[in-house]
Amino acid sequence: MLGVASAQVIFNPQNNAPSTDIIDLHRQLVEIESIAPNEAGVADYLYDLLKAKGYTVERQNISKGRYNIYAYTGKSRDAKVLVTSHIDTVPPYIPYSRQGSKIFGRGSADAKASVAAQIVAVDQLGLNEDVALLYVVGEEVDGVGMETANKLGCKWDVGIFGEPTELKLGVGHKGNYMFNLTAYGKASHSGYPELGRSAAEILIPVLNKLMQIEYPKSDLLGPSTLNVGKFEGGVAANVIPALASADCFIRVAADIEKIDKLVRSVVEGVDHLEFNLQATIPPVTLDYDVPGFDSIVLAYATDVPRLRVPLKKRVLYGPGSIHVAHGDNENVEESDLFDAVEGYKRLIAWGLKQ
Ligand SMILES: *[C@@H]1O[C@H](CO)[C@@H](O)[C@H](O)[C@H]1NC(C)=O
Ligand SMILES: *[C@@H]1O[C@H](CO)[C@@H](O)[C@H](O)[C@H]1NC(C)=O
Repeated sequence: MLGVASAQVIFNPQNNAPSTDIIDLHRQLVEIESIAPNEAGVADYLYDLLKAKGYTVERQNISKGRYNIYAYTGKSRDAKVLVTSHIDTVPPYIPYSRQGSKIFGRGSADAKASVAAQIVAVDQLGLNEDVALLYVVGEEVDGVGMETANKLGCKWDVGIFGEPTELKLGVGHKGNYMFNLTAYGKASHSGYPELGRSAAEILIPVLNKLMQIEYPKSDLLGPSTLNVGKFEGGVAANVIPALASADCFIRVAADIEKIDKLVRSVVEGVDHLEFNLQATIPPVTLDYDVPGFDSIVLAYATDVPRLRVPLKKRVLYGPGSIHVAHGDNENVEESDLFDAVEGYKRLIAWGLKQ
């Protein structure tokens, strides 16, 4: 049975094969809204498109109406080279439009430009049992798509990950160490502080210590940085605050275990203070020494560390810039799409030799 979006696959009238025009394919993908968790339309579109091109295509179920798309050819589900990106976008939906050489719309850069260029690149290289394609959901939210891809049970040697990198190879990116702190005081009249316990006086010195720590740095990724992103507490100037809390986020350049020890050395053992570690993602270093490519250090996180199938090489590459990716002016240069097709072809050729 054909999927809902199948009618949208463009076929070339000359030979009735699905079109591999990069501009057409990119437009089709951007025109299908796929704000997580609503990726089914674009997943169905890719399912039909890749099937029509001769791939064996699997839907990997994530939850009701949500699935990853995995495409390969030949008998084995494994492949030497995995080409992958994500099909969800951030909100709000922005329709497709063009102004001169720029193409606007939600996902036009992040990451439907990568998805389109990857598919056209593998198409131009021809079906190859050593190259598989994986398109995952949920990258912008919690990474549930790539986390689930670990359960495909497939092996690959080289991962080519698509994200907006300005057509350069990502050197790596920082990881995350996210936590919150809640201080429990006891309210009283500020004229009689001895009758209460100030949550502010518990939390503020702790935050001060955390801000004074020098966190591990890396030559490649720079310093690890702490942001006390949200803090609140108390009710009025004349009341001893009963409650205070802070949400903190360390961008991790190196040694996440040491960062964990440093934070715990400050927060643990403080009376009436609760520490909640919310998420940790170690920093990621990538392969970027491929001849003919420039490199770029990235300040944003990706799905790369979520794929824990051991890979010999991992590269991150794609058209468009992260600087516009989540904004209301998200766009990509038309020429970047063509350049990315060539870039992915060279990366796949390099991957096949690893
Ligand atoms: C997919 O997963 C959801 C929830 O995990 C389940 O309700 C649904 O039946 C599954 N669909 C298929 C086709 O396995
Ligand atoms: C702190 O984090 C925990 C665990 O994620 C969460 O349940 C709690 O609501 C958070 N507290 C605040 C004040 O944000």
